[in-house]
Amino acid sequence: MSLTVALSKGKLLAGTEALFRRVGLPFPEGEGRRLVVSMDGLRFLFVKGMDVPTYVEYGIADCGIAGRDVLLEAGSDVYEPLDLGFGHCRLVVAQLRGSGFAYRRASTVRVATKYPRVASGHFLDRGVSVEVVKLEGSVEIAPGLGLADCIVDVVETGRTLEENGLEPVEDVAVSSARLIVNRASFHARRDDVGRLVETLRGGDEARSQTRTSVPLPQRGEG
Ligand code: PRP
Repeated sequence: MSLTVALSKGKLLAGTEALFRRVGLPFPEGEGRRLVVSMDGLRFLFVKGMDVPTYVEYGIADCGIAGRDVLLEAGSDVYEPLDLGFGHCRLVVAQLRGSGFAYRRASTVRVATKYPRVASGHFLDRGVSVEVVKLEGSVEIAPGLGLADCIVDVVETGRTLEENGLEPVEDVAVSSARLIVNRASFHARRDDVGRLVETLRGGDEARSQTRTSVPLPQRGEG
């Protein structure tokens, strides 16, 4: 029986494809619209990034590739054996440039975000009362339009913040692409999963020329 791998259709897709090709794993060709594709002993599910941990936690997929940002938000009960070394970005608090807004002095901070769990945890850990406004994207326009005092969002190049008049004021977490594994699959399909993990680990070493030792298994954070 082939292993099922859940992959994000979003920003991690290009890095995932590059990694699979580099290590000699199969990967579907082209820009097709089929969302479930089987080839050469692997079955691929192409889903929204935020849904990758769900498919893996429920055992629909044996493995998946998701950003740490997504894993922190999802809080799923999955193994996270490998940092794949691409998709680096940061989760930050950002606000209107030069506004001087100091959330620690506000009675309640209103924050717009795609990451409600991460955002509320960040402010509550600092003893700040928070009202989360959940958005699905284009979060950067919220402060300028008066929807929120600040945002918690992903920054990669910083261009989106810059072009929308925002500045990062605090780091929340760093992120990169992670391999995640369903807990039951990890044990029941140990040989197949182990081979996939070692193959992908080899790709990271070839890319970075450094040996990183990541213990296996390791609980997903959340
Ligand atoms: C992400 C994130 C920022 C942008 C950051 O959005 O939410 O908007 O990328 O990238 P940058 O720092 O390189 O500008 P994404 O492209 O995933 O789109 P979305 O807002 O529709 O979720």
